Amino acid sequence: MDVRRLSAISRRPVALAALRARYAVRAPRTVFGVEFPNPVGLAAGMDKDGAALPAWPALGFGFVEVGTVTAHPQPGNPRPRLFRLPDSEAVVNRMGFNNAGAEGLAARLAALPRPIGVPLGISLGKSKVTALDDAVGDYLASYRALRQHGDYFAVNVSSPNTPGLRALQDRAHLDALLAALVGEKPVLVKIAPDLTEQAIAELLEVCLARGAAGVIATNTTLARDGLAPADQERGTEAGGLSGRPLTGRAREVVGFVHRETGGRLPVIGVGGILDPDDAARMFDAGASLVQLYTGFIYRGPALVRSIARRGLLAAPAPTTALATPTSSS
Ligand SMILES: Cc1cc2nc3c(=O)[nH]c(=O)nc-3n(C[C@H](O)[C@H](O)[C@H](O)COP(=O)(O)O)c2cc1C
Repeated sequence: MDVRRLSAISRRPVALAALRARYAVRAPRTVFGVEFPNPVGLAAGMDKDGAALPAWPALGFGFVEVGTVTAHPQPGNPRPRLFRLPDSEAVVNRMGFNNAGAEGLAARLAALPRPIGVPLGISLGKSKVTALDDAVGDYLASYRALRQHGDYFAVNVSSPNTPGLRALQDRAHLDALLAALVGEKPVLVKIAPDLTEQAIAELLEVCLARGAAGVIATNTTLARDGLAPADQERGTEAGGLSGRPLTGRAREVVGFVHRETGGRLPVIGVGGILDPDDAARMFDAGASLVQLYTGFIYRGPALVRSIARRGLLAAPAPTTALATPTSSS
């Protein structure tokens, strides 16, 4: 199911209703002040320009992160730039933030006939043409164009496919970036799985000091461990690796963030969730929400539904005080 087909389905109310009846699950929870109908989200990168927005909630997603968008529209890297490694349940990509630009996304969001019914996250990145030293202005321009449309914003400082981008995870860069962006809407920082614990700990200090709403862990990895023999050669393609080889490391990072912050920073766990047990372990490690990308490629919407249903079972039971009508009312 590719985004182009889903974009066509998005314009057909009957088809959307049929999907919704099959896949939508309610397991609500509130995280960083935003109410989510269920805790399973679409990870950034799948629908960069918001081309199929109504389709994702119909496929069961409890939230959608569009982008990564940049202030300037850009074509991304030359093709081929996405490689499936099926024996490893993995993908290597070097898309390079192909997107229609922040203004383009803002126009599309403004033209939506109705709200999509689930929280919308917007992932922001740096334009390739913008120098690293001017990154704050670039993120800020995108943020200003899109501010009114997002329920939360993700600061993507962890894609391996824009030269120098990951340097923005350093203390000084991130501090300046968050100083400019944190305010009106929840701002979360998306981190790389390749950081050392010390680097993550420093980044978390900045997040806490600057009032970030949470952390998204993790983006794709530069490591190439855990590939099946048949995928070794394709695995040497440049780019970020996602899927099964990332499962353990992403969970480790989520656990580290949760412990290091004493649970003060909510975590969206993402990376190598390919079955409901992977998701359960991500929640056990401290994630408040999860996101899927590669798992959705290989398993489709049945995976979203089965995780969300599990979330339903794990949802906190309503307290007696809420369930019992008071005699005075
Ligand atoms: C083709 C592709 C494009 C991606 N583009 C983005 C992106 O634009 N922004 C971003 O923050 N993450 C992007 N990601 C990373 C995913 O959002 C996710 O963090 C990562 O793939 C790990 O999750 P997964 O193992 O479920 O795929 C992309 C991943 C893939 C496979």
